[in-house]
Amino acid sequence: MSYKVITRPLKRIDAREKVTGEAKFGADLNFSGQLYAKTVYSRYPHARVLSINTEKAEALHGVEAVITAADVPGENELFGRFPVFAEKEVKYTGDGVAMVAATSKSIAEKAASLVEVEYEELPAVLTIEEALAHGAALVHTDAPGNFIENTHHLMRAGDVERGFEEADIILEKTYRTQFVEHGYIEPEVVIALPEPYRRGVEIHGSIQNPYSIRENVARALNLRISEVRVIPGNLGGSFGGKDESVMLMAARTAITALKTGRPVKMVLTREESILESAKRHSYKAKYKIGARKGGTIVALENTIYTQGGAYNNKARFANWRASVHAAGPYRIPNVKTDLYGVYTNTIYGGAFRGFSAPQVVFCNESLMDELAAELGISPKEIRLKNCLKPGDELVTGQVLRPGKIPAPLKQMIEEVCSRSDFDRKREEFSAGNSGDEPVKRGIGLACTFRGTGLGGEGIDTAGATVTIEKDGSVNIVSNLNEMGQGMRTAHAQIVAETLGISYGRITFSPTDTSVVPDGGPTVASRGTLAGGNAMLIAAQKLKERLLMEAGKILNCSWEGLVIEDEIIQYRGKEKLSITFDELIPRCIMERGLTLSAQGWYNPGPEELDPETGRGNAYPSYIYGCAVAEIRVNTLTGKLDVDRITAAYELGRVINPQIVKGQLMGGLIQGMGYGIMEDTETKEGYLITRNFDELMLPTSLDIPEIDIILYETDQNIGPYGAKGIGEIGVELSAPAIANALFHATGRRVRELPMNLERVLLGRALKR
Ligand code: MOS
Repeated sequence: MSYKVITRPLKRIDAREKVTGEAKFGADLNFSGQLYAKTVYSRYPHARVLSINTEKAEALHGVEAVITAADVPGENELFGRFPVFAEKEVKYTGDGVAMVAATSKSIAEKAASLVEVEYEELPAVLTIEEALAHGAALVHTDAPGNFIENTHHLMRAGDVERGFEEADIILEKTYRTQFVEHGYIEPEVVIALPEPYRRGVEIHGSIQNPYSIRENVARALNLRISEVRVIPGNLGGSFGGKDESVMLMAARTAITALKTGRPVKMVLTREESILESAKRHSYKAKYKIGARKGGTIVALENTIYTQGGAYNNKARFANWRASVHAAGPYRIPNVKTDLYGVYTNTIYGGAFRGFSAPQVVFCNESLMDELAAELGISPKEIRLKNCLKPGDELVTGQVLRPGKIPAPLKQMIEEVCSRSDFDRKREEFSAGNSGDEPVKRGIGLACTFRGTGLGGEGIDTAGATVTIEKDGSVNIVSNLNEMGQGMRTAHAQIVAETLGISYGRITFSPTDTSVVPDGGPTVASRGTLAGGNAMLIAAQKLKERLLMEAGKILNCSWEGLVIEDEIIQYRGKEKLSITFDELIPRCIMERGLTLSAQGWYNPGPEELDPETGRGNAYPSYIYGCAVAEIRVNTLTGKLDVDRITAAYELGRVINPQIVKGQLMGGLIQGMGYGIMEDTETKEGYLITRNFDELMLPTSLDIPEIDIILYETDQNIGPYGAKGIGEIGVELSAPAIANALFHATGRRVRELPMNLERVLLGRALKR
């Protein structure tokens, strides 16, 4: 099959306006008469609120409103228990107790400092261990044991006890991962204004999931969902992060906008952004694995605690994803997995690219290497021996059938190892490391697989509208959101391919909750898969409409017509043809047709057994494999990544440039997660307050990256494409941990592998 538009590295559809600055971001928007809002945050990780005195703040000239929980017209508790404003109790230092709105930013700042709050400190639980200890203080009095509701997810396959009896060797290891901030370039922005033409409120800003924001704002304001209109602006990155904090900002500013009758704008500082936004969940994971002497794995048992923070609406979903992936891309007959989410009086966990996979893959792939070392076989051998192959059954009971669910992992491991010269370098580096030189070199391998889309996590629908205008321009709009990932470009390529027209005809409109039906959130690498399928369906409807009309005009049966290169032609008969440009005005002006079509993709629910966790968890999976080569100074602990070679199976490549960009970005973000980044709290107070403390990788840290793309044929996504937004972030940390072990013989089981941990080779006490 040859394609005209997809599979090509076309320019991003939104490249021009992004490069020239024509494209506006939330902070660029200003409305006449707007107020500037600032949240007053809690002073303590856990305290009773005795009183809030807003008088001094209100008296300040230029202050138009000071609002607290008492001003919330509807529900003060939103999804995940997040309070619009903490009322009787604060549960972490990011809780908002009040918000001020003033005529300038500086007055708002001053006014916020004048809000007087009296507290009585309460005992706080700050770690997973403290939260689970007998008699621990409770973060929420109705959440016994500090367990987050609906977060216990499990997987049961085979008989794990019998499995361990068959094992020649059993390893037990505990791994930990940190809370980590997304570090998007653009901090959160929301602007709420009274709807100019009707009752209701309109919200703009850096919003990842406009429909869930709309629903929560409606709840908080006691409005109907249809009375809240959310238009997400351009986003300077999100990675799962612009969600809960934006929900709170939207509710607070919307209340104030309706109260004052003026637009209210809130732009977070970087410090506020790190304080109030979600983090990748911190994990404590206990693993037990059993294998035979030859390296065949017979049993795996793991118990994983995920730190949720003070409020949480994502662990219930992220833990489910983790339960499906907790045995890794391996054939293991006996598996027992349990995950639990835990409340603490700290910053909270949420969605961050990978959505539990980066944590689980770090643990699994470290463990796999530890097992290989114990058995005296190579990291490559143990993976080749146990990795999923065509015909295998996943822990979920799903069978990997070629053509339906491919499983090219073995091939990918072999190719990545041969391309990186894995076997030879392992020997060469080991030999070189035996001397006194402080700088050691190492090479490490890691593998992964990833369920595509939301699967059993939720309804995986998406909507699209494609409209051909009189002049032949084609406008597309999706309910899914562009955050910088390139989704709109993929959608445009899919529509142009399907309609047989040039990519240059396509324009896009921003998502708007009052215009586009709610098709769910933009998450789970589903922009191209679910969103692209909706585009494909809409474009196919239009194509059929065009061909039928062309058939009438040309006096031939429409089934024999094809559109290619903007010409509608009867197969093999040049005379029977009409151009796209001629056909469009005739359809619209002469025949009164609508050339607007809606596409709705609905893969249907997935049935899962709650007792075992088994069932068709995801319609398909994608695969990844990476080799990292590192250099580590054993005197200073400094670790540099020299090179990463990685392969990914992704169905079909819609735009190779964007796909590689996404995968490289993911590998780099994953490297930062692995060796540098940490969002630390001390006694419940955030100490990583800004980028200088967060330690994001910069261009100087970026290794050489070599990416191999595997295409497979199956009919899951549009033209076979699956989602690649997240898998890139998964492999760096474990591949680097394994390379570090190869270089130094030190196993670091806690992220990040910073200087101290690299030097000591074990977890430091916090
Ligand atoms: Mo994402 S981490 O599925 O928003």
